[in-house]
Amino acid sequence: MNESKTNNINWYPGHMAKAKRLMQEDMKIIDVVVELVDARIPYSSKNPDIDTLAQGKSRVILLNKADMADAAVTALWKTYYEEKGFTVAAINARSGNGLSAVTDCITTACKEKLERDRKRGIMNRPLRAMIVGIPNVGKSTFINSFSGKAVAKTGNKPGVTKGKQWIRLNKSVELLDTPGILWPKFESQAIGQRIAWIGSINDQILVTTDMAEKLLCFLADRYPGIIAEHYGIEENTEGSEHPGAELLSRIATRRGCLKKGGELDLERAAALTVDEFRNVKIGRISLEKPSDIG
Ligand code: G4P
Repeated sequence: MNESKTNNINWYPGHMAKAKRLMQEDMKIIDVVVELVDARIPYSSKNPDIDTLAQGKSRVILLNKADMADAAVTALWKTYYEEKGFTVAAINARSGNGLSAVTDCITTACKEKLERDRKRGIMNRPLRAMIVGIPNVGKSTFINSFSGKAVAKTGNKPGVTKGKQWIRLNKSVELLDTPGILWPKFESQAIGQRIAWIGSINDQILVTTDMAEKLLCFLADRYPGIIAEHYGIEENTEGSEHPGAELLSRIATRRGCLKKGGELDLERAAALTVDEFRNVKIGRISLEKPSDIG
């Protein structure tokens, strides 16, 4: 996949380098990195460069859009990242669900630093947090919901790069108001595929029928019965050489996706399949499990 063409926003090396440089600057003035990932793809939506950029900082991972993911799989991911030393919470930044746990997560992640400060007599200094994540994971939504309307910006502070704005959340935490944007890493086709399924790559450069056929195969494998139930079609494709194409044809037939001459309109069936997946109409689905990570 060509990285320069794979997003709704403009990706080009200069843009990425600049974003990284700005993030490196911001790292100097914060205590904790709060990284948002998409709960449906908590591995594929995580840029591994952040581990280098955030070296020495306390780390929190928020599994956002948990309302769209399979809760049982989200619980596996929470354990997976906790075992790697992160403090983790599953949240829904849009509705606010789970946000009440975030301040605790931040203070837990920073407990060694708080202890060091206490020994030096530094008390009540709010922890400074930066939100980071790939485009579309919900960084702005999170900042808005987490900070709420009542919270005022604290303005510039001495010693802080001019123009930096902090949002005072409560007595324990303040947030840098501009999130750090990272780009997904297309380390493998599987990762690129999952990022495409959730809609974080410009669909115009993708073949929708291909994307839908692969999605249908994935669903039939991981969530047996879900296609039959949602679309009211036979899900068994035993003996078929192209199970994904077969399922897509059945959906096209069932939904009456026909071209003028009566031929099946597979593009239309594919677009509606992908849309219904993204709008959680097929169900709450996780696209990867910790055991998928090689
Ligand atoms: P970003 O800053 O990281 O790029 O992401 P942003 O907050 O713009 O969120 C991207 C989309 O994801 C938005 O939808 C937003 O509402 C949605 N979103 C964020 N958090 C959650 C969540 O926890 N659950 C669900 N279901 N959706 C979430 P949009 O369609 O682009 O905009 P809109 O429909 O909200 O106007």
